[in-house]
Amino acid sequence: MKGSILDLAVAMPRHYIKMEHFAAERDIEPNKLLVGLGIEEMAICAPGEDTVTLAASAAWELLEKHPDKRKEIGLCIAGTETGVDSAKSLAVYLHGLLKLPSACRVFETKHACYAGTAALQMALGWAHQHPKRYALIIASDIARYERHSPGEPTQGGGAVAMLVGMADAADALLQLSPISGLHASDVNDFWRPSYQSTAMVRGKYSMSCYLEGLEAAYLDYRRQVDNLSVPDHLLFHVPFPNMAQKAHRRLMEIQGMTQRDVQTSDFALRVSPSLWANRRVGNIYTGSLYLALAGLCERKGQELAGQEVALFSYGSGSCSEYFTGTFGQRIAQPRLEEMMSQRIEVDIHQYERLMDACIRMEKNGSYQLDLPGTGAPYTYTGIHQHERIYRNNVSRAYRRSHAARANFQSSPAINAVV
Ligand code: CAA
Repeated sequence: MKGSILDLAVAMPRHYIKMEHFAAERDIEPNKLLVGLGIEEMAICAPGEDTVTLAASAAWELLEKHPDKRKEIGLCIAGTETGVDSAKSLAVYLHGLLKLPSACRVFETKHACYAGTAALQMALGWAHQHPKRYALIIASDIARYERHSPGEPTQGGGAVAMLVGMADAADALLQLSPISGLHASDVNDFWRPSYQSTAMVRGKYSMSCYLEGLEAAYLDYRRQVDNLSVPDHLLFHVPFPNMAQKAHRRLMEIQGMTQRDVQTSDFALRVSPSLWANRRVGNIYTGSLYLALAGLCERKGQELAGQEVALFSYGSGSCSEYFTGTFGQRIAQPRLEEMMSQRIEVDIHQYERLMDACIRMEKNGSYQLDLPGTGAPYTYTGIHQHERIYRNNVSRAYRRSHAARANFQSSPAINAVV
């Protein structure tokens, strides 16, 4: 048995905007976003959705697939950089909404986009001490930059929930090696002061910090491994898909493969199949690397069983980790395409109004008893007397049918604000 991810599930906001429309409205050459950054669509949150509901939706979906393991969960860690409270952890909101066992260690991790990996690595260590129990790890975020800033097209939102424990290959999605390459460095490439709802970023500098972190973490990994194998797949943190291409190129160069045509064909083979979902959701910060994992699972399915993968996690500020694993026999089926087909497209004016409405929902007194849901299992209804109020939408009928949930012809949330 090895420390493993047993399964995963993803949640994404109900609305999105196409980048060609975004570009036209912002007077940007469309190919800068579609080709230069590699983004096709960007997920947008609506009132009713927040970091907690995204996390809880992903975890709910995951636990519905593993009802027998729910009562064995002894650790719940939520990684986020868009936490909703400075003291109360995102994980304990989830603990309540998901009705997890009371004998459970719950807490939140923070280190920009690295927080999900920090949580996962902690859970893997814990799993060795508690081989009969399971950890629930959730990475959840809403990426927001200033309107009209260069970062604006690299927003998004979503969550990935993972079940972690000791497992044989027959029961694992991904068995992870205990060896990790690490690199930490105190830099100001991207951060969000507590008094701001949008991030501060030095765009080009953040890209060079990412690549420096990758190189240093990879070299640290290489120092610890005697016989380096060539992984079948390479997964990267994906602030925008072409950052993964730059990262792949840097790795190839370190390994002496400098010919552009060799790099291009290797990228198509080992990286590109994992990026399609990130292209259509945008940056989900802590969950981005794991959205790439989910995307790869959906594209390749059982073909992945027994194949090797390397993962690179980057959190600004900064902490980097390069680690590896082997796919087991239980490849996840995250239904990403299905979820995307149920989303509602908005135009730029609706996008702006949705975002403004979400920011208003973060103020005391924003509570709306009858706020419509977005089809997700939980709805954030606002703040009443400084407490966040959530509604549980899970009925027997809701549980029975994905189709019923998908049957939203128009979005009540958007009608409420536009
Ligand atoms: N057709 C095709 N490509 C075009 C084009 C066109 N018409 N016009 C421009 N491009 C290309 C450019 O050549 C460039 O590609 P290369 O980098 O390969 O040269 C690409 O499109 C982007 O163009 P710019 O460099 O001019 O873009 P920009 O300066 O306006 O902004 C950005 C890019 C810095 C990434 C900005 O979106 C940003 O600040 N994003 C947020 C920060 C970020 O994502 N950083 C990543 C590393 S930090 C991290 O990973 C943590 C995290 O999650 C935030």
